[in-house]
Amino acid sequence: MIDRATVDRILDAVRIEDVIGDFVSLKRRGANYLGLCPFHQDKNPSMSVSPTRGIFKCFSCGKAGTAITFVMDHEHLTYPEALRYLAKKYGIDIVEKEETAEEIANRLKYESLLVVSEYAQKFYQNILWNNEYGRAIGYSYFKERQFSDETIRKFGLGYAHNRPLTLASEALKNGYKKEFLIGTGLCIERDNGDIIDRFYDRVMFPIHSISGRVIAFGGRTLKSDKTVAKYVNSPETEIYNKSRSLYGIFFAKSAIAKSDKCYLVEGYADVISMHQAGIENVVASSGTSLTVEQIRLIKRFTNKITILYDGDDAGIKASVRGIDLILEEGMQVKIVLLPPEDDPDSYAKAHSKDEILDYIENKECDFISYKSELLSKDIENDPLKKAQMINDIIASIAVVPDPILRNVYVEMVAEKFDQKPESIFLKIKELRGRKKKWNRPSYNNENYLEPQIEDSSYSTENENVTQEEAVGAASMGTGYDVTNSFLAVHEREIVYYLIKFGCYDIHFEKDMEYGNAPSEQLTVAEYIISSMRDDELEFENPLYREIYNSFYLFLSSLPQDDCETNQKKVIRYLSTGENQAVSNEVLNLICEEHPLTIQEYKKSIVPEEHILGITVPKSMLLYKLKVTEQKCMSLLKEIEKAQKSGDKEMQKELIGHLQILNQVKNRFAKELNRL
Ligand code: CTP
Ligand code: MN
Repeated sequence: MIDRATVDRILDAVRIEDVIGDFVSLKRRGANYLGLCPFHQDKNPSMSVSPTRGIFKCFSCGKAGTAITFVMDHEHLTYPEALRYLAKKYGIDIVEKEETAEEIANRLKYESLLVVSEYAQKFYQNILWNNEYGRAIGYSYFKERQFSDETIRKFGLGYAHNRPLTLASEALKNGYKKEFLIGTGLCIERDNGDIIDRFYDRVMFPIHSISGRVIAFGGRTLKSDKTVAKYVNSPETEIYNKSRSLYGIFFAKSAIAKSDKCYLVEGYADVISMHQAGIENVVASSGTSLTVEQIRLIKRFTNKITILYDGDDAGIKASVRGIDLILEEGMQVKIVLLPPEDDPDSYAKAHSKDEILDYIENKECDFISYKSELLSKDIENDPLKKAQMINDIIASIAVVPDPILRNVYVEMVAEKFDQKPESIFLKIKELRGRKKKWNRPSYNNENYLEPQIEDSSYSTENENVTQEEAVGAASMGTGYDVTNSFLAVHEREIVYYLIKFGCYDIHFEKDMEYGNAPSEQLTVAEYIISSMRDDELEFENPLYREIYNSFYLFLSSLPQDDCETNQKKVIRYLSTGENQAVSNEVLNLICEEHPLTIQEYKKSIVPEEHILGITVPKSMLLYKLKVTEQKCMSLLKEIEKAQKSGDKEMQKELIGHLQILNQVKNRFAKELNRL
């Protein structure tokens, strides 16, 4: 955890034009900067960066945010990772808070393992480029495989030599600890306590984490001798979890997000050659069979995976296994079969970028066609085999979580094989029912990324409750559902004024009657809170209530300062907190101009802050009018009830209430008209 004071120091140092300028070339345009938006294919500069407000906004794709969210989205970092990135950029030491001694030790160990790992990467790289043997053996090998110098550098490729230049001896000489050399799996301890290298006489492929740290290596032999393992890989370590890593993800993530598509290949060489050909949205599962965690890693950037495995038997088997896993995650999967003699590596080398993309586009097929093609080779006249194939495809459809998508697939299969959709649905229902039973006992242990569900949601024997329905039910009430509330749009508008102008003075029109136009000078925030208190109102929508409360809580902690400075501090505080829903909504609000209900001012050329004396009371009134209307409606319902039960007394009392409420309502309405 980074403590709040450090967060503030980082945010104080951040200049948004600097931060974005590291990734996008920005041109000054008046008070703002303009550049090509990196979040979509931007032809003309449509991203505006405002140093004074500390935000950016793209007028073409609508993407907006602060320096922090820019770094988060552009580099695909989490919030703390983005803070660390900015701290590093501005040379600020991070103060961690509330760490136990054990946590500190673990963090130091973790960091030490990474440091050793990165030292090793540099060590192998240096041998490849600068050592006589390294150049003659390792470098020439990569050259033979047509890797350019640029590619070799980009992927940090290296060469592990043999005696006397071992990693073990060099690292120890340079003060790296034995413990960490063993901990990274780079060295192995012998019985006598000496350590020796795991990798020797191999070209080295460093494996990077999603944020670009070196966490492991794959070493390929240069011998064609079949008795030598083709690859030796780092073992699982504290910094390397095989099933959660994807080779190339660090270099591919931006391209995956941008193209909204990820190509999945098998090997290191495939990734590298595709990149070299100019196709960068490529990652490899590296020999291990694809895991759910790897798929979820991709899911952070796109929903669409295209499998590009070798055309051999092993490749086909692996692709079939991958299909169901991807479908199960609710993602779209396509498959491309390469010519049998090719893998993506050889194909990419023999063809241009456009040729590769053309090939993929033409050969890409959905899993239904893929499976039917695979399985239909010799079953033309064998009805039993045909039935098996259809069942196989139906089994894949059954794992798709989205019922609507399932229907689409069912229609496709029904048409393709001339089957009745109803019988397919029946089969799917049966398969899903069965699967659910298998899953039930272990459900709470796996799926660590999913919302945790109470066991009780499953204890019902009602087989019609699907997993996703249960998840939906369990998550209800925890999320902020804005659309559900009748008043939300008005609450949002009030919050809008707090976020954008809360600290600004409000200048009332002289003849304003409502709200006893106060004699003393008020800020927007003061006006709003006193107006809310006058009528003892509280927001109904949890999100806006949360923003409202945090706003006032934070404001009360601020020293007297000029309104712009304070407004900036409030925005910063609210848009960078732990609560994602709050910070997202605050960012949305900052980037908006004129709330929806104040339509007539939309086209006005008057700056918003000059007409706060009209717009804010108007929003307040509108909100109160709606609150009253809602109360009237529920009163009417109660009156109806009382009527039915014949409770005359109650009826009379309620009608009295309603009359008063109606008067209030009319007064609000009349006041609104005057404004
Ligand atoms: N692999 C492995 N151990 C092996 C063989 C393969 O870990 N003994 C993994 C490697 O990550 C490899 C991937 O499986 O990249 C795909 O295997 P393969 O196609 O044989 O290797 P390539 O990387 O394509 O190697 P090359 O093109 O150099 O033959
Ligand atoms: Mn290969």
